[in-house]
Amino acid sequence: MHATTATPTAGSTDACTVFPKLKPLVEYLRGLTGRADLAVLSRLLSGVDLARADVERACIFGTRGYRRNVIAASEWFELLALTWRSGHCTPIHDHMGVSCAFRVIQGTGTEIRYAKTDSGLVRPTESVSMPPGYVCSANDPDIHQVANLQAPGQDLITLHIYSPRIVKMNTYSSPAACAVEAGDVYGGSAGCAQ
Ligand SMILES: [Fe+2]
Repeated sequence: MHATTATPTAGSTDACTVFPKLKPLVEYLRGLTGRADLAVLSRLLSGVDLARADVERACIFGTRGYRRNVIAASEWFELLALTWRSGHCTPIHDHMGVSCAFRVIQGTGTEIRYAKTDSGLVRPTESVSMPPGYVCSANDPDIHQVANLQAPGQDLITLHIYSPRIVKMNTYSSPAACAVEAGDVYGGSAGCAQ
């Protein structure tokens, strides 16, 4: 699934001015001098009651996949509104080196959790429905995929925090391992000898 990243707060307008409800969150994040504690991020997201109107300026949707709308960022964090049309999803990924937490603002998201197998491939272990207000946090080794599995016309909006910023995400899509080869066991067009 293709994802795009954009900064909707164009120019020098401060995020706290455009998104006043996010001010305590942004101020905490701007004070970071290292990786944020995951429990603190979860607590901050749980404590802020947000509706779509509170982040409307950041609710720009992608066309080919979910869109990452950057609200504020520094070396040590990234605060984003992610927007998802029906059928949009992340790759299967982990969170090595990054604290990641998000809150569902509008719509119901789905988190599909995975575990590594001896083969090196991953398998799904459970699926969690995430209604508005749900806060999800992911530890380093957690492997998951987030998706909008609602019907067409039903959007999903989530507020994400990453600390530090994600430079590269480990993904588990493995097209090479899942490739299929075709072969004719009957020896081409000769058919079966009787
Ligand atoms: Fe994630």
